[in-house]
Amino acid sequence: MKRIRIFHAIPLEETQIYVKIEKWLLDVGDVIECNLYESVGTRGEKELFLPKNKPLHDEIKKKMDQLEALYICQEDEPIYNQFIDFIVQAVSQNTHIAITKKAAVIYRQASIILNEMFDDPEALENVPKSKKVVNQFVDTIFSDTHAIESLIKITSYDYYTHTHSINVCVYALSLGSYLRLNANELEELGMSALLHDLGKSKVDHAITNKNGLLTHDEYEQMKHHPSYGYTIAMKIGIHDERVLDGIRHHHEKLDGSGYPDGLREEEVTIFARIIGVCDVFDALSTKRPYKERLSSFEALHLMKETMKHHLDMYIVDAFIQMQRSDQPL
Ligand SMILES: [Fe+2]
Repeated sequence: MKRIRIFHAIPLEETQIYVKIEKWLLDVGDVIECNLYESVGTRGEKELFLPKNKPLHDEIKKKMDQLEALYICQEDEPIYNQFIDFIVQAVSQNTHIAITKKAAVIYRQASIILNEMFDDPEALENVPKSKKVVNQFVDTIFSDTHAIESLIKITSYDYYTHTHSINVCVYALSLGSYLRLNANELEELGMSALLHDLGKSKVDHAITNKNGLLTHDEYEQMKHHPSYGYTIAMKIGIHDERVLDGIRHHHEKLDGSGYPDGLREEEVTIFARIIGVCDVFDALSTKRPYKERLSSFEALHLMKETMKHHLDMYIVDAFIQMQRSDQPL
């Protein structure tokens, strides 16, 4: 969720932080218990668009569709997040709602949860929260043959640690499903992928959020994040060896040049290999302030050409076949 700090139009001396929301999630008949704002003027001043508790009727919906964006006050985020929770419940139980909308709503909820998780990575409730996200994705994948296609389409092109984690989880689950892992294995793989970068919360934010390439020293610090993540995961009550292994070893390389343990070949488990491939793919195909994104084709081509000794090419090939498949995945 993008946070935008602006000066409120009236009174001028007061500051208010507004948060952009996804207006396509709102529909006729919805009643939201917080004010919705639109952006007006050249400096992006905010003006009340729909007062709280007023039903969103047809005419307002038409006006809303014309707006570029809608906002809420940051202090209303918990109220809005509860509303999203409610929508997710309604959407996942409604068989008439298009899979594209379902996928988008579930991705949106995952984004809220992951944001909270990175704010407080050692909170014990992170385990049930992650399970909730992964189960929503797995249930969606099993409920509709077009679900994977829709989920992949919705992955964010802008790189943030929390959306990167969701993207990697979506890719890993898609690949796992393509490789015929069973529901239990998929849930474990999904948990591991979702939490694979949790250890970045322990690395200096100036490094993890740096708008440029890392120096040697910064990179050395960054290399601790898989073992930090492993420790945090155990601390919050994750004991499953496969989940822990995927978190700790997603940066290992088949030729032994990876970190933190310098594992080689068959020492790198299937979870670590799958998450490793999805991690590299997402890093290449998302935009950073210092680099443009590669298309899926360019990213996979680069991986095939230059990472033969690092990544498992059987998994890269499966990823390519999955993306190229004209059949519903
Ligand atoms: Fe990582």
